[in-house]
Amino acid sequence: MKRTTAEALPPMPHIREIQSRLGAWYDEHARPLPWRADVSAYHVLLSEIILQQTRVDQGMSYYHRFTERFPSVEDLAAASEDEVLLLWQGLGYYSRGRNLRRAAQLIVSDFGGEIPRTLEELSRLPGVGPYTRGAILSFAYDLPYPTVDGNVYRVLSRLFALSAPIDTTTGQRLYWAVAEALLDRAHPGRHNQGLIELGALCCIPRRPHCSECPLQPYCLAHRSGIEEELPIKQGKTKVLPRYMYYFLIRVTDEAGLSHILIHRRGEGDIWQGLYELPLIETGEEGVEVEALMEQASFHRLLSGLQAPRFHSAPIARHAHRLSHRQIYASLFLIEASGVDPSLPYRLIPESERGAYAFPILIERLLAQVR
Ligand code: ADE
Repeated sequence: MKRTTAEALPPMPHIREIQSRLGAWYDEHARPLPWRADVSAYHVLLSEIILQQTRVDQGMSYYHRFTERFPSVEDLAAASEDEVLLLWQGLGYYSRGRNLRRAAQLIVSDFGGEIPRTLEELSRLPGVGPYTRGAILSFAYDLPYPTVDGNVYRVLSRLFALSAPIDTTTGQRLYWAVAEALLDRAHPGRHNQGLIELGALCCIPRRPHCSECPLQPYCLAHRSGIEEELPIKQGKTKVLPRYMYYFLIRVTDEAGLSHILIHRRGEGDIWQGLYELPLIETGEEGVEVEALMEQASFHRLLSGLQAPRFHSAPIARHAHRLSHRQIYASLFLIEASGVDPSLPYRLIPESERGAYAFPILIERLLAQVR
């Protein structure tokens, strides 16, 4: 959590009134979310990692899944990466799941199974950034640390009419300093969760419910009628296309049982550790099927199959947006009677597909196939 010098702070009158109105509003309006009912540092860690880039209603079932399957941090530390990724399936940003398991392992190996209570120690946990550190320290241990997520950026920028962009380092420093100055040190957990809840329920991005807001009398943006123009973001990230051609390779054995080829994605790209179908990528340009069939990788694939029958019309298509990529995926069917063991793929019975964590894109493609 970075600090700025005091002179960079905007004027912040009415801090006490804001704290006490926010606290009272939270006591009355907080949603009864499962991680609030049974507060522990492990539950805060789990819920906050799950809720990064994920809506509360979507994250809820995953939170239940994880707490049921892994009641303690030791249980999570002992799980295989495959099992964690399978449970994570559909949430996206899978590095969160991988890091969560590694963090649990470090908590067990280096901290005796206790989630640390200091910023420095928490900083050693993979995937645990400034927001999650502040959330663990304040929500779970009620220690006086601020924390700022997307909801809090919005509330603070409106309350104090801050025009600093929230997607720049300088802007973020200012917001963290404002959050620290506003923190109710007697009730840090309630205060921080109050800001998040206010941003989630009342101070929402479009058409905020200002008439119901406990902080409306002090809100500078509301006074000037500019609440919907805040917060400001400096630049939109550029989204590049990525074309992916997948192959559903069905291998039917003598007994008539259907198998498919899959492989586990390696390091250094999206979906690390997840499974997928054989893939040919053509980068930022799409190609016609004739050009696809001329690729050396397509020839290698076919030459590893016995009696391959390639169907040249795609059996499924799906467009999938990631934060920096727009993926255009097609799925082609190849039927074969056998596989050369030198092909770098795993042959699995088609009926066992559910035992492997696939990116949701693959699930969407396969859902279009009978
Ligand atoms: N979004 C992220 N963290 C949250 C939390 N603890 N409660 C509600 N919404 C959230």
